Amino acid sequence: MGILSKKKEQVLEKDIAPTSIHEENQLLKSSLSYLKTELSKFKELPLLVCEARKVLDNKVMIKVPNGSQFLVNISGNIKVETGDTVLVEQRSLTVVQKLEKSRTFDIEDFVIVEKPNINWSDVGGLEEQINEIKEVVELPLLKPEIFKNIGIEPPKGILLYGPPGTGKTLLAKAVATSAKATFIEIVASELVQKFIGEGAKLVREIFSLAREKAPSIIFIDEIDALAAERLDAGVSGEREVQRTFMQLLTEIDGFKSLDNVKIIGATNRFDVLDPALLRPGRFDRLIEIPLPDEKARMQILKIHSKRMKLNDVDYDEIVSKIEGFNGAEVRAICTEAGYFAIRENRNSINHDDFSKAVEKLSGKSDDEEYAEIYG
Ligand SMILES: Nc1ncnc2c1ncn2[C@@H]1O[C@H](COP(=O)(O)OP(=O)(O)OP(=O)(O)O)[C@@H](O)[C@H]1O
Ligand SMILES: [Mg+2]
Repeated sequence: MGILSKKKEQVLEKDIAPTSIHEENQLLKSSLSYLKTELSKFKELPLLVCEARKVLDNKVMIKVPNGSQFLVNISGNIKVETGDTVLVEQRSLTVVQKLEKSRTFDIEDFVIVEKPNINWSDVGGLEEQINEIKEVVELPLLKPEIFKNIGIEPPKGILLYGPPGTGKTLLAKAVATSAKATFIEIVASELVQKFIGEGAKLVREIFSLAREKAPSIIFIDEIDALAAERLDAGVSGEREVQRTFMQLLTEIDGFKSLDNVKIIGATNRFDVLDPALLRPGRFDRLIEIPLPDEKARMQILKIHSKRMKLNDVDYDEIVSKIEGFNGAEVRAICTEAGYFAIRENRNSINHDDFSKAVEKLSGKSDDEEYAEIYG
């Protein structure tokens, strides 16, 4: 090694050494402060997530997760309202922060809110049921003064019950359309599954949304999932459903029958419903939606084939062959008949297409029956 390169090495060492010690020092300092803040996080007591029950001047009654209630102070000038979710400090339970509503959930993500566009003429059969719904839901929403003048109270809610596919959802949407009401749809079984621990709160939010968007109709599909009579409320899941159900009753009791919100429940399991739901002032009008009779099947067939290009189709013959079909199945026949025509490259649908569709769907329902009986 020559003298020259040795010198170079010394110079390099001299250059590097002081900077690296300096850097290392910096690094240690910053990791020390990082660890200090981390350590303080571990030392900090957790805040409790509570529900504000009642606001009294500058204090608030809160419910802690184990169910006990306390009257506590609010730190600073946090505006707490009944129903808010708040964070409280553990020792004194002082409210130190309020969670924004959207923090827990955004209600419109879980309910369907729409202005439907279904006309009464889209519903086949069910004339009596339509008249009753017009009288007890549509009229009070459109002309509450008639009821005020005469002094009678229309029901706050009605219950549509009957077999699947008979038009319950369709009717609820039709009355929302004719009453120019916002349609808020919840499926009770989903509400129960998704909202472990928050069901009761969601019910409250749904009603406040309904008031905000009034006139409105709250449609609760599969209401039996929420309101089945419970023999054993011991399991915690069951207790939660029970709480959600109680909140629903509280909300229904809390508004007047002429407020412009109506509730329509739907179920295929009328037999299991808790009688508390059906007491006067709640769902006190029960409307049965049966399977369509021959005349109704004809109307439903006509409704769903209205826009189809038909060629010599004998409606009477078809209708006589589909005894026991529900409305949804009658609609499916029209769609299937259309497919048979498409497969044969025709641009109109003939009687034979309908016959084949009936055959196909009857076969299918036989299979389903078989599966139900023999597993
Ligand atoms: N009476 C009817 N008139 C016209 N179409 C009907 C009728 N009943 C059912 N349909 C057709 O069947 C579809 C399904 O009906 P809908 O969803 O209203 O039944 P549902 O009674 O609510 O059934 P589920 O109990 O399964 O919820 C409707 O969108 C409609 O196209
Ligand atoms: Mg339905």
